[in-house]
Amino acid sequence: MGRLNGKAAFITGAASGIGRAIALMFAQQGARVAVADRDEAGGAETARLIEEAGGCGIFVSTDVTNEESVQSAISAANGKLGGLDVLVNDAGIVHMAAAADTSLEDWERVLAVNLRGVFLCSKHALPLMRGNGGGAVVNVASIGSLVGIQAHAAYNASKAGVVGLSRQMAVDYGPENIRRLPNGDRHPNGAWGGRDRCCAGRLRPAAPAEAHNGAGGYRACGLVPGLR
Ligand SMILES: NC(=O)c1ccc[n+]([C@@H]2O[C@H](COP(=O)([O-])OP(=O)(O)OC[C@H]3O[C@@H](n4cnc5c(N)ncnc54)[C@H](O)[C@@H]3O)[C@@H](O)[C@H]2O)c1
Repeated sequence: MGRLNGKAAFITGAASGIGRAIALMFAQQGARVAVADRDEAGGAETARLIEEAGGCGIFVSTDVTNEESVQSAISAANGKLGGLDVLVNDAGIVHMAAAADTSLEDWERVLAVNLRGVFLCSKHALPLMRGNGGGAVVNVASIGSLVGIQAHAAYNASKAGVVGLSRQMAVDYGPENIRRLPNGDRHPNGAWGGRDRCCAGRLRPAAPAEAHNGAGGYRACGLVPGLR
């Protein structure tokens, strides 16, 4: 019996890297998975890998920076998977430059994917979760949301924004049984995922959403402990 049996998940950035590892592990644990990405070939390949392993995976072409695209992808996934219980906001891009060396175009490009994308997907997934009586939002941030890393101005600003938005959504939606687990948000009590005053008791400590496997790839681990 998988820990995610009966759950439907929409996972952005699942065409490669960490997002693909999350999608495969979710499916292995019994979830029906919508692989959401702008990379059609990679997304279709993730869905194929899920099906090949005996799981349920569909690819939904999604540009997280575009509200129309997000809205229609979430609606298609909800229809095809028969609901939506978990949103994983993993899609992200990196731009390496210090602030004075970052063009406005690069700043806006990074913020559009890494922060606007999290906002748009959450905005359109949350009403479905509320309708279902609850759910979970997993936001993949970065250690760069907490500490400065040389020449990562736009990236680290975007990831700090993700952590701030995650905390805010926990306050707004925790009482409605929607939990959030931002990776990179280490609470002073040492737990990953943290706790918010309004939701104490609902949020449980979570491990970071990915771990480097030491061989140039990633494996997902400890994603959503306690998910009902
Ligand atoms: N790799 C790391 O060391 C590391 C460390 C900390 C955090 N992260 C975060 O983890 C997440 C995944 O990183 P990764 O290393 O697996 O990267 P990756 O490049 O392998 O995967 C990112 C995915 O996002 C997709 N994507 C990009 N723009 C998109 C858009 N507009 N709409 C839809 N999909 C889009 C890409 O097509 C790709 O499949 C990112 O949010 C990243 O910031 C990565």
